[in-house]
Amino acid sequence: MSATLIRNLSRIVTPRGRTAVRGRAMRELAIVESPVIVVNDGRIAYAGRERDVPRALRREVTRDFDAGGGTAIPGFVDTHTHLPFAGYRESEFNRRLKGETYQQIAESGGGIASTGRATRAAREGELVTLVGARANTMALHGTTTAEAKSGYGLNLHDELKQLRAIRTAGEGPVRLVPTCLAAHEFPPECDRRSPQRAEYIERVVEEIIPAVAAEKLARFCDVFVEDGVFTRDEGERVLRAGAAHGMTPRIHADELSDTDGAALAASLGAASADHLMFISERGIDALAASDTVANLLPATSFFLMSERFAPARTLLDRGAIVSLSTDCNPGSSMTESMQIVVQLATLRMKLTVEESLTAATLNGAYSLGLADETGSIEEGKLADIVILDAPNYLHLVYHFGVNLVRHVFRGGELVVRDGRIQTH
Ligand code: NIG
Ligand code: FE
Repeated sequence: MSATLIRNLSRIVTPRGRTAVRGRAMRELAIVESPVIVVNDGRIAYAGRERDVPRALRREVTRDFDAGGGTAIPGFVDTHTHLPFAGYRESEFNRRLKGETYQQIAESGGGIASTGRATRAAREGELVTLVGARANTMALHGTTTAEAKSGYGLNLHDELKQLRAIRTAGEGPVRLVPTCLAAHEFPPECDRRSPQRAEYIERVVEEIIPAVAAEKLARFCDVFVEDGVFTRDEGERVLRAGAAHGMTPRIHADELSDTDGAALAASLGAASADHLMFISERGIDALAASDTVANLLPATSFFLMSERFAPARTLLDRGAIVSLSTDCNPGSSMTESMQIVVQLATLRMKLTVEESLTAATLNGAYSLGLADETGSIEEGKLADIVILDAPNYLHLVYHFGVNLVRHVFRGGELVVRDGRIQTH
């Protein structure tokens, strides 16, 4: 056995625990000054003052890693991304800058449908390359675990292709957790005002979900419940089918209007209800009383140029479990960086830096069922560690708009060194 000693750290800053943190406790970060971390066999064997490293462990250390005086935080856990897409939508973005709305563009044949066309046309190998490149960008910005959704294929062949690409690219610097989002939209060949509407839902339930399950391609199942897309009842039907095949529900809920998505998520025991810009009082109460995570995506409000952010303070103060994600996708949030998400959560949604950091790490890990393995720097967990070029964690928000990530370990492996991807 050979262990690595990470030394010359200014601090370790981390939430603590193997489950989600709610309420005031989200502000309680553990901080150790001038610490070391010992990584053994991919896991954190020790994190604390150097003089207290157990002697037997000290004897195992064969390598030293100089952290250059940086601050160690847990790798970010990004629990909502649409990574396997082809093509970009910068011209739609430019139309939005000139006043058209996201919904108007979608109704004119753009939006999810336009990424759908490009993604169907891409071969699986091309998607692997695209997902791999985006995962590298995520790692460079401090993410070590990310959820990734299908949802641009919208037929059996292309949904499977997207999920297979996620599986292959998940071997890289970011651990990818796959979600089947076959009910992201109706496919372009389907007239949603005709019997074809019910036929597509039937196809998702009877054909796509069982095939995804048979190949073990997804851990979660998601639906876009929204005015003009899937109704609450249609969403429920799809999520129950997913659950019957072993996929835990997550929901795009109350993003552009209040469709009671949050309450649906809580009633189904979903892992998360995501977006929530238009969540109702009833939805807030339902999440606060449940273990369903309120997953907030402030980069989407920002990128859609909306003044409407999810009511993060209210959710958190009433006791909901809050997490944060990028929503990385080519239409409503074209970023891989959890740093900007933490900055927006703090500066626009009024979370404290401490709450934002807990939301972006441990609570995200909980929503993926991984709080036992990652989300904090604690003995026994996977060594998913980010070293920031900063004297303390406040710089994460204070020093905004630049990349503070210097080194990243995923499961003990150095995947980013001096701001560059390490190829092995
Ligand atoms: O989370 N709301 C649905 N899905 C994405 C947008 C996808 C797209 O525009 O391509 C979202 O915002
Ligand atoms: Fe999304």
